[in-house]
Order: sequence, then C-alpha cells, then structure tokens
Amino acid sequence: MREKLEQIKLEAMKRIEASDALDKLKDIQVAYLGKKGELTSVMKNMKNVAPEERPQFGQMVNEARTAIENKIEEVRKTLAAAALEKRLNDEVIDVTLPAERSVIGHSHPNTVALEELERIFVGMGYEVVEGPEIEYDYYNFEALNIPANHPAKDEQDTFYITNDILLRTQTSSVQARIMEKGELPIRVIAPGRVFRSDEVDATHSPSFHQVEGLVIDKNITFADLKGTLAQFAKELFGENTKVKFRPHHFPFTEPSAEVDVSCFKCGGKGCRFCKGSGWIEILGCGMVHPRVLKMSGIDPEKYTGFAFGIGLERIALLKYEIDDMRLLYENDERFLKQF
Ligand code: DAH
Repeated sequence: MREKLEQIKLEAMKRIEASDALDKLKDIQVAYLGKKGELTSVMKNMKNVAPEERPQFGQMVNEARTAIENKIEEVRKTLAAAALEKRLNDEVIDVTLPAERSVIGHSHPNTVALEELERIFVGMGYEVVEGPEIEYDYYNFEALNIPANHPAKDEQDTFYITNDILLRTQTSSVQARIMEKGELPIRVIAPGRVFRSDEVDATHSPSFHQVEGLVIDKNITFADLKGTLAQFAKELFGENTKVKFRPHHFPFTEPSAEVDVSCFKCGGKGCRFCKGSGWIEILGCGMVHPRVLKMSGIDPEKYTGFAFGIGLERIALLKYEIDDMRLLYENDERFLKQF
C-alpha cells in the first residue's frame, strides 16, 4: 500500500510539472484528488491496512494530498501568470496611434419635418398623441365609416395579420381611439408610421408616416378648419403661402377636401417644381362625419369637428426639395449629412 501511495504521488508530481495549460492541470486535479481520483480510492482501501498502521497510513495519504494540492497550486499560478502575460502582450494598445473619428449622427429629414409640424400645432394648443401600429380592423376602417367592400380594405393594399388585425394603413385609426375616451373637447395631432402593400418607387413605400389632426368641440365649422390649415401652411412654407381647398371624398369626413398650397418655389406663377400649376397638394381633410362621431359615442347634434391627414414624407420631400422618397429610407450618410 505504501509503495503504491508513493508511486501515485511521484507520478502525480511528474504530471503536474509537465502540464503546460490550465485545463490540463484541472484534469490532473480531478484524476488524483477527485471523487473517483486515485488518491481517493487509496483511502477507500484503508480496510486492507492493518488496524495499528491505519493512523500512520492515513497521515501519509493526507500528506500526499497536501503535497499534490500545493504543487497544483504552484504550477497553476505560474501558468496563470504566463497566460496573463501573453494576453497583455497580444492586446497591447499603441496609445500613439491616431484616434478613430466617431461619426456624429444627424436628425433624419422626417424627424426635422415632424418636429416642425409638432411645433406649429402645439403652438396652436394641440396635444401630441399616439396609437398602435398593429391595429384592429375596427379602428382602421369600420369606426371610420369605411365599408367592408371599400377598395382600401383589399389585401392588395392592406397588410393583414389576422382577419381583424392589421398594420394600420392610416393614422386616422387614432381618431376613434381618442374619441371613445369621451374626454371633450379634443384637439390632437397623432403622428406615426403607417403601412400599405405598395411597391417601392419614387413616391411610394410600403411604410411611411402620417400626421393626423383631430378637433372636436361645440360649434366647430369648416371655417375653423380653413383658418387652422391656412395658418399651418403659412408657418410651414412662409407668410405669403395661399391655400386652396379642392372638394374630395373621404368616407370619414363630410364634406371632404384636399388642400393645395401655392408653390413656395415660384410663388404660384408655375414652375418645374409645381409642374407648372402653381399649386402643390399637401393634405386631405374634412368635417368629421356624423356617423363617425356617433360610432365613438359623441352626439353629432351637440358636437362637430374637423380632421386632417398629412403625409410626413411628402412634407419632408417638399421642404428639402428631395425628388425621390427612397432617399429617405436608404440612410446613406452622404445624403443625410446635407440636412
Ligand atoms: N387617412 C387619409 C389617407 O390616408 C388622409 C386623411 C384625409 C385624413 C382626410 C384625415 C382626413 O383625417 O380628414 O389618405
């Protein structure tokens, strides 16, 4: 037994000395000192030792264990120090190298345009609200008086998630959400992302942004709508900007209109920018349809209101004279840098 112990110890020492990596050392530790290790099995064979020799033998085993442990620790320290040394050498930092220039970002033209719009409407006492991009068919269509057979509901135009859940196609979906809260009067704008199943080209994208406006109070008339949007256009495009309301149709407003502003490039004489007409279309609007009010629990006999929807990209493209919407989404730094 004693020789065996001595032999195990010698062999362990040799292996420890020879090990050149920390994980190998770990294996050795397990092989000798672990639960199923060699030294442990010697201890288990204690019954084969004569009773009177047991204390002494036990002591020897313990000494062997301590010696192995110490040796492992010693070699481990050396190996760890060498590993650290190697890492420090590998990762040496040359502080004399020129620093990497960090690129400072720019506000996206969309963001700049949105901040401008918000500033104008907040200045008129509007509150900025938001609604979900993943929306119920109810808020996106039904509550807006858009009938089930309306072409906008076609799968060709709308991304459906389930039968009654979709990616909102317009920020008008926020209208009913605000109205059904029942807190009147209402004076909000709701900016956000909308989605349509459109091919990408210079003026279309499957995802773009709108800013919805909604005002509900007693005695709101079309004159309020005209005054508000005329003021908005002046603030956005300049004091001399004129507005023109062209009759149009939207299911959720009656009457409805599209609004043109006098071309801020040529002042209305007609140029390349306004395609010779002197006018540029900027938004859709109208008086909130009584049925829309009623569906959201507002009495159309007592309250009236107006709504408008602005395409944010359209404003950004106009304001910064960008001729292709795709530029807004490519995030090419050379382009963004200009704003
Ligand atoms: N939701 C309309 C669209 O996406 C835009 C719009 C038109 C919004 C008239 C309105 C409105 O609130 O009154 O084409």
